[in-house]
Parts: sequence; C-alpha cells; structure tokens
Amino acid sequence: MNSPAQAVRIRPMTPADLDRVIQIERSLQQAPHWPHSAYLASLDPQSTQHRIALVATVATLPSTQSVVAFAVASLLPPQAELEMIAVAPELQRRGLARSLFAAMVKELKSQQITEVILEVRASNHPALALYRHLQFVETARRPRYYADPVEDAALLALRLA
Ligand SMILES: CC(C)(COP(=O)(O)OP(=O)(O)OC[C@H]1O[C@@H](n2cnc3c(N)ncnc32)[C@H](O)[C@@H]1OP(=O)(O)O)[C@@H](O)C(=O)NCCC(=O)NCCS
Repeated sequence: MNSPAQAVRIRPMTPADLDRVIQIERSLQQAPHWPHSAYLASLDPQSTQHRIALVATVATLPSTQSVVAFAVASLLPPQAELEMIAVAPELQRRGLARSLFAAMVKELKSQQITEVILEVRASNHPALALYRHLQFVETARRPRYYADPVEDAALLALRLA
C-alpha cells in the first residue's frame, strides 16, 4: 500500500468484517479486547446502547485483509465515548487513525454529539500522541483504574466545533 490516502475507504462496520476486526484487535497489545458478541452487539441498531462502528478498507488488498483499521463510539447525547480506535500494525503512522476519526466526527455531529470523551491507559503513548494530535485535552486521571497490569486511566475530552 504505497499511497494509502488514495486507496482508503471508510464505511460502517458490518458483521462480515468481524473476523478481520478481531484479528487486528488481537494483534495489538494496547487495544481493549472485546468478545465477538460485544462487537456484534455494537452493530445492532436495536441495542440499548447506540454505537457507531466504522472500518477503513483498502480495495487493493486481498478481501480477507482489506479491513485495515476500525473505530467504535458509544453515544449518550450530547456526549459520545470513543471506545476503540485501532490500526493494523503494519499500516500505522500513515494517517489512518486520523482519517477514521475525522469520519467518526462527521457521523457524530450528524447525531447532535457535541463532545467526545475517552479513557486510555496512561502508558499508551501512541494513543495519547494521537489524541493530542486530534486536540483532545486531559480532564482527569483515575488512579489504578486498569487491572492486569494495574495502571492509571487518563480521561480526555474533545469539544466538537
Ligand atoms: C493509536 C493508533 C490508533 C494510531 O493509529 P495511526 O494510524 O498510526 O495514527 P495516525 O497515523 O493517524 O497518526 C496521527 C498522528 O498521531 C500521532 N501519533 C500516532 N501514532 C503515534 C506514535 N506511535 N508515536 C508518536 N505519535 C503518534 C502523530 O502526531 C501522528 O501524526 P504524524 O504521523 O504526522 O506525526 C495505533 O497506534 C494503534 O492502533 N494502537 C493500538 C490500539 C490502541 O492503543 N488504540 C487506542 C486505545 S483504543
């Protein structure tokens, strides 16, 4: 993938994407690990918790590998929580998370969301760098929030213009 910007398409996640989505998630130590059923529930419009799930795809890759990144946000208007954003390891630092988040913001704004919040492990430096790049600000710390290993959570927020 020499020119990702030209080849990347962002669209809603579907159940057919889940094997590849979980493959990417499992290859990333820093990503939260959800069971298949949790991803499936996030795609269910009848679910009590309304979520938006997007994937980035590259049409030139083999179909089993064409999903290269994904993001999931849960909506509690006027706030949304970015629960997951993940990019296949071999395609990181090419702007995929930035593009995915821009598409997510567009969707969120269309649903009257005015603020995005998230929590992240304090040691997850790539994610923190991404969120800083996206203009998130740290609003609080939750000491020893995460287990295995025990670690603080940083709470971040971004007002949508
Ligand atoms: C965090 C993550 C999603 C970033 O994805 P990405 O596609 O590599 O990010 P982008 O290429 O869009 O980066 C945009 C900007 O964020 C910052 N950034 C992203 N990754 C960075 C890193 N590893 N180190 C330093 N800065 C980084 C940079 O400012 C970058 O801009 P630049 O490349 O022009 O310098 C990716 O590292 C990942 O999947 N991590 C594992 C899963 C995870 O921890 N997700 C977050 C919690 S759910």
